[in-house]
Amino acid sequence: FYGAVINPQTLRSYDAHPRCLLAVGPDGNISWLVEDVAPHDLQQVLLQYGCSDEHLVELKDGEFLLPGFVDTHTHAPQVPNIGTGQQYELLDWLANVTFPTEAKFADVAFAKRVYQQVVRGFVDAGTTTCCYYATLHLDASKVLADTVHAQGQRGFIGKCNMNHDCPSYYSEPSPEESISATHSIISYIRSLPGASSIHAAAGTPQPLVQPILTPRFAISCTAPLLKGLGEIAASDPSLLIQTHISENPSEVKYTNGLFPDAGSYAGVYDSFGLLREGTILAHAVHLSPPEVDLIKERNAGISHCPTSNFNLRSGVAPVGKFLDKGIKVGLGTDVSGGFSVSILSEVQHASMASKVLQFTNAATITTPSKAEDSKFENKQLPIPTLLYLATLGGASLCRMEKHIGSFAPGKSFDALVVSPSGKQIGMWGSGEKIRSTEKESESPTEKRDLDEWLERFLFCGDDRNVDRVYVQGRWIGGRSFTGF
Ligand code: GUN
Ligand code: FE
Repeated sequence: FYGAVINPQTLRSYDAHPRCLLAVGPDGNISWLVEDVAPHDLQQVLLQYGCSDEHLVELKDGEFLLPGFVDTHTHAPQVPNIGTGQQYELLDWLANVTFPTEAKFADVAFAKRVYQQVVRGFVDAGTTTCCYYATLHLDASKVLADTVHAQGQRGFIGKCNMNHDCPSYYSEPSPEESISATHSIISYIRSLPGASSIHAAAGTPQPLVQPILTPRFAISCTAPLLKGLGEIAASDPSLLIQTHISENPSEVKYTNGLFPDAGSYAGVYDSFGLLREGTILAHAVHLSPPEVDLIKERNAGISHCPTSNFNLRSGVAPVGKFLDKGIKVGLGTDVSGGFSVSILSEVQHASMASKVLQFTNAATITTPSKAEDSKFENKQLPIPTLLYLATLGGASLCRMEKHIGSFAPGKSFDALVVSPSGKQIGMWGSGEKIRSTEKESESPTEKRDLDEWLERFLFCGDDRNVDRVYVQGRWIGGRSFTGF
């Protein structure tokens, strides 16, 4: 690829290279990249690396490469009711909207039809790695894993564990059966055709589709079920875990009543060995300070789901505080608590959420000292931070930051070709678009042009701008994708 590249680096910074040359090897990993190659040096640099220009993709003016998005929390079987039920708060929403929809996935044919479109939707939105909840059904969970595998997306697939306080039509009969089905889905996913062999042969350390333990939340699991899941976790330290925590005040109160000895909501998961590195905790809106400390101590990560947190009136998660403490944070669409499959919606709402905290807490902010200048708490999240959460931050929650989330030799080429679309007013690029910076059309693209393109994509972009989606070097989706 030759053209503009935006490459996340840290919570505070990204690199923007207007004329980068980036090579992807046959294993789908990035073999090398040269940050700045003038057009007249292009052939010579290619020659130097022993490459011809036969497979060269030259990005057009306004196009840029961005690492693919990581969605650290979503529910594939809730896509059918996306955009409905926002009159409810969490517990009523689960009972009235979510559980009836999820129960339909007892029908495997229905699951096949729906999951096909669902995964396509997430891929085309630019999500290259996705942490999916399935339903409690083993067969439909296998269908979701098959679908993600067939479409070439990187994903963590969890069969939901839930045997308490769910409707009789949608509950697992016993902890034993839930644990047994969990073993089944883990071995099924690990033996998917090619899941280990192809990618291992290609030098990729992990298969694209992997299992993840998925206790729905503390309320929906009895102590024996949580204990059984803790035993599976203990026997397999590499296994990721995903669950919900402290999303809604009524949920927190109910949870504390169910597990009075645990001391706190985070304490419930901790007491069963489910709070550890590789645990992804969705929401974390109403945590107490000791819970935040415990999460940091255990090196678990938080999936920030601001669209859902606004939509279900759950509250505003203090993400800046988590970042100041050094807790790992990523973004999650939490469909259908959230009403969009796109991580762009989370970027936008994460920004708004941080602004809400900034003006809500303005009275307590005095003139910041130098030390406070470098803090995130109660301040608007800057663009590099939002980009980091959507990519590298999410990757770190999945313990994948060495493999995905940014561009570097040896990392997987999980990437988006982002492109301006003529149909969107006020977008970046040349031609008829309305531009904030007047400049000669012939003048070369500069870093500050890329800063503007990125900001506009993050705040005004949608799947029309996600022209191509690559996972492990393979073109799997996007607006221009026409199939394998
Ligand atoms: N808590 C337990 N289940 C769910 C769910 O499906 N969505 C959300 N947002 N919170 C939950
Ligand atoms: Fe959720």
